[in-house]
Amino acid sequence: MDTPLRSSRTHVIEATCPDAVREQYRTALSHFGSGVVIVTSTDDDGSPIGMTVGSFSSISMEPPLVGFFAAHTSTTLPGILGRGTFCVNVLAESQHALARSFARTGADKFAGVEWTPDAAGSPRLADAHAWIGCTLDVRTSIGDHDLVVGAVDTLVIPTESDPLLFHRSMFHGLRPTR
Ligand SMILES: Cc1cc2nc3c(=O)[nH]c(=O)nc-3n(C[C@H](O)[C@H](O)[C@H](O)COP(=O)(O)O)c2cc1C
Repeated sequence: MDTPLRSSRTHVIEATCPDAVREQYRTALSHFGSGVVIVTSTDDDGSPIGMTVGSFSSISMEPPLVGFFAAHTSTTLPGILGRGTFCVNVLAESQHALARSFARTGADKFAGVEWTPDAAGSPRLADAHAWIGCTLDVRTSIGDHDLVVGAVDTLVIPTESDPLLFHRSMFHGLRPTR
């Protein structure tokens, strides 16, 4: 039997809903595939910080603006907001292990990771598909996330590579990588 969210009926997701419905909500929305980025910056003492993000989007061309949604629980978010600059590292297909390690709170995410600072000091991860350097433009709280909008300062395509994709809780290249 189909789970309710797979049926053609309309379901209202309550603001406070049971865990089972929450899980169905996640499963249904995992059918929307995306690229994967790691947003990096530096914290108060200059140490590199970063988190894996799938909600990245281009927003505007004139002026050039991009954005992403970060959970209020993210430990990286305060550093990004405090610094006011960040780098969007668009991940290449080969970087699925990085995407996993930067999705863990509290880990030493940069151990063994090759990177160089951009003009604002934000880490550019080696071998990324693209680097987008940004200055914080707008931040607004929506539900349990913050929308973070950045004005694009620099756009660099360092190497020719294929992108990393995420769909139904799995990483893919243009072919599946599992
Ligand atoms: C493919 C993928 C996409 C993700 N997208 C987002 C996202 O858009 N926003 C978000 O807040 N967390 C997202 N996460 C989860 C964060 O990476 C994860 O919560 C991470 O622990 C945050 O680290 P922090 O607490 O050190 O900031 C994603 C994780 C994965 C694996």
